[in-house]
Amino acid sequence: MCKILVAGSLCVDYYYPAGRDIPLIFPGGKGGNQAVAAKRLGADVWLFAVVGADEGGAFLLQHLKKEGISTDTVFQKPHLNTGYCLIRLSADGEGNIQGYPGANLHWGQAEWEKVLPLLKKADCLLLQLEIPLPFVWKLLHAAEALGKMVILNLGPPRRTELPQLGEKTFLVLNAQEAGFHTQIFPEDFASAKKAASILRKKAHHVVITLGSRGALLATEGDYWHLEAPKKEVVDTTGAGDAFCAALAVALLREETLQEAASFACRAAAEATTVLGAQGSTNL
Ligand code: RIB
Repeated sequence: MCKILVAGSLCVDYYYPAGRDIPLIFPGGKGGNQAVAAKRLGADVWLFAVVGADEGGAFLLQHLKKEGISTDTVFQKPHLNTGYCLIRLSADGEGNIQGYPGANLHWGQAEWEKVLPLLKKADCLLLQLEIPLPFVWKLLHAAEALGKMVILNLGPPRRTELPQLGEKTFLVLNAQEAGFHTQIFPEDFASAKKAASILRKKAHHVVITLGSRGALLATEGDYWHLEAPKKEVVDTTGAGDAFCAALAVALLREETLQEAASFACRAAAEATTVLGAQGSTNL
């Protein structure tokens, strides 16, 4: 079976649904969400992450074990806090996320030496921007040099110079992130196309996720608008993560990029039907 390496963040998500003052607590972090979604979609997954040796870290490790994900490559570091997020949910299920990265930003030489052997054995790398950016770019370049497929999720919005991406790297970002990086907010297909054409200068394949409007796929000079199925939305948090995981899984099954992106739209829509960034077990 193909192996996916997710190198990314783990966070405890404190949810405040509209009108609630006492938080609901869920596992989160883009890395964790993508690893769990990929595993639920049938992939063989390694998750490489760093948490604190605290209650939050223990909660996240326990949850990963329940999902059948090995925690051998999730490192608990003493004297660090596990990352957490405060998520205020609006009545229509849109989350406003405030992140406190904690241990997620403590990746250094020791992590590099541990992650490299995993990367060599993996078929695909899933990366997001919730770990130190120099680490993201170093890992991306190593993966590309090894000829691996990479899904680079450009979230959350962080100021950074996007490198020239290789042919097997797929850039995935949402409308807010596309607006942040291109100064063009994708409000409709035409503006999404414009934003994607700017990003295409750096990437062969760009996918801008557009929530209930599906996704725009830009690849080799062509543009496709992929529809998302209509769902009763409870919580959009983590939908983008389900999208990235599903895209990786489908591409590894050798589906075409259009087929894989359509599959990812369906997984993302499903992810919005349950509370919590890893809520839907029905991907
Ligand atoms: O993508 C959603 C995730 O972003 C949440 O689970 C939260 O932890 C933040 O990392």
